[in-house]
Amino acid sequence: MTTKIISTSPFSDQAPGTSGLRKDVKTFKSEHYLCNFIQSLFNCLDLSSGKQTLVLGGDGRYFNPEAIQIILKMAAANGVKKILLGKNGILSTPAASTIIRKYQTLGGILLTASHNPGGPNGDFGVKYNISNGGPAPESLTDKIFAESQQISQYFIDDGHDIDMTQCNVHTLANMSIEIIDPVKDYADQMESIFNFSCIKGMIGSGSFTMVFDAMHAVTGPYATEILGQRLGLDAASITNAKPSPNFGGGHPDPSLTTAKALVNTMFNESHAPNFGAASDGDGDRHMILGDYFFVNPSDSLAILAANAHCIPHYKKIGVKGIARSMPTSQAADQVAKKMQIPIYETPTGWKFFGNLLDNDKITFCGEESFGGGANHIREKDGLWAVLFWLNLIAAKHDSVENIVRKHWAEYGRNYYSRHDYEAITLEQGEEIMAHLRHRLPLLTGTQLDNNLTISQADDFTYIDPIDSSVSQHQGIRIIFENQSRIVYRLSGTGTQGATLRIYIERYEQDSKLHDLDIQETLKDLIMHSLQIAEVQKMTGRSKASNIV
Ligand code: G1P
Ligand code: ZN
Repeated sequence: MTTKIISTSPFSDQAPGTSGLRKDVKTFKSEHYLCNFIQSLFNCLDLSSGKQTLVLGGDGRYFNPEAIQIILKMAAANGVKKILLGKNGILSTPAASTIIRKYQTLGGILLTASHNPGGPNGDFGVKYNISNGGPAPESLTDKIFAESQQISQYFIDDGHDIDMTQCNVHTLANMSIEIIDPVKDYADQMESIFNFSCIKGMIGSGSFTMVFDAMHAVTGPYATEILGQRLGLDAASITNAKPSPNFGGGHPDPSLTTAKALVNTMFNESHAPNFGAASDGDGDRHMILGDYFFVNPSDSLAILAANAHCIPHYKKIGVKGIARSMPTSQAADQVAKKMQIPIYETPTGWKFFGNLLDNDKITFCGEESFGGGANHIREKDGLWAVLFWLNLIAAKHDSVENIVRKHWAEYGRNYYSRHDYEAITLEQGEEIMAHLRHRLPLLTGTQLDNNLTISQADDFTYIDPIDSSVSQHQGIRIIFENQSRIVYRLSGTGTQGATLRIYIERYEQDSKLHDLDIQETLKDLIMHSLQIAEVQKMTGRSKASNIV
């Protein structure tokens, strides 16, 4: 076998976004595109260090198998000693994090575009996770991008393709490739955190019904092992459990608009199950539903933290602190205040939780975008959240809706919604943000109507409390005296044009007012959010294309 040195030249668009490099499949398939990025990554890794093993796998989407074969050959040519590869190329994002940590590898390469659609006309993505199991921090992604802008050659072995369908060991040049069970380590970890006998008792009781929708994505095999084999759930209650390269033609995103079948089951049938849940393409997001009831992800974070003592593992380790991304509602802040523990507000993207978790500053963290997790790994974790809810329901003998309503009664309710303006042009997106930034000094102190006075208006800057790294321009915050908020930011995960996200929040303490229609109760704030940013004038749009 020989190493080939291939001449190439840079692509200007290889800056990793909120969560790795995401492009449409066609771009990734174009000549040198994937190889350039992978070589840029290898150029930034210390492959001479003691840790020379990398984890490799992905969400099973279209182009995963081809990309894996290419990456294996490039890894061998770049001096990687060993690869732990998920069988059939499968590894959910949380399982990859578990495996990196358990086997103390240098890091892992995750092939996923998360909840973006897959298939020949869909998206693909490459994400690098470091030795703590979490997404590469900006210092590293900036370096990878810099390398990609000066690349002139890459190295690739001319060996044969590897059979990924059996758990055994292969050799490519001097590199060993161990094909591993993608599920076992993760399932064992879940079993060590949650009270499986308590959940199993509830599932087997005959009085509890549930459905988990794997959306033809990566969590199918994980749910089959954990919910089915280990917790006794019947196979019919795990829907769309077989991963497919184009996610069955669907959009593997657990939200009220995209998880249609599950939503119909939970909201339209005369006998809806007690519990419904779904995860996304790579298994790190979750949506929780009760019968005729939706749990807002920001509330989910707050509720899990407030009830951590119901789970023996978390009762034992305690809750050190909570972190939420800046646009996530402030529901968790109410919990932290009562528990007298710190709350951290970080920029959007899981990578910002890494330092806080590594340094034991927080136990739980979450994002409004259906992401929640804890200190067991360094990624958000869809099935973890599902198991947490199941454990809570079993321990409390209560329904999803009651658990949420009791939480609101105790802590108040943060009415919350996100309005997306998708596929506007990059210029429009940047102009809106620039215009808002320009207006910031004028906004503080402005009274918009009788009970809406702006107490603070800023462009969110995060200073990492551990390494003091500074992340600027992380979103525009308009904060009102009554704790209401409007937040604006541009998406960092899209592959076409720009998406403007507007997050709107209002706090209501009075439990007699906890049953209002969300859009109706937020309507004044929504109107102000459009006026402040002059959204219609700048985009020509009169309403959001997606409301969460
Ligand atoms: C979106 C979510 C963000 C999440 C990211 C990756 O990013 O908003 O919370 O971390 O996906 O899953 P955005 O498109 O807003 O940059
Ligand atoms: Zn995801």
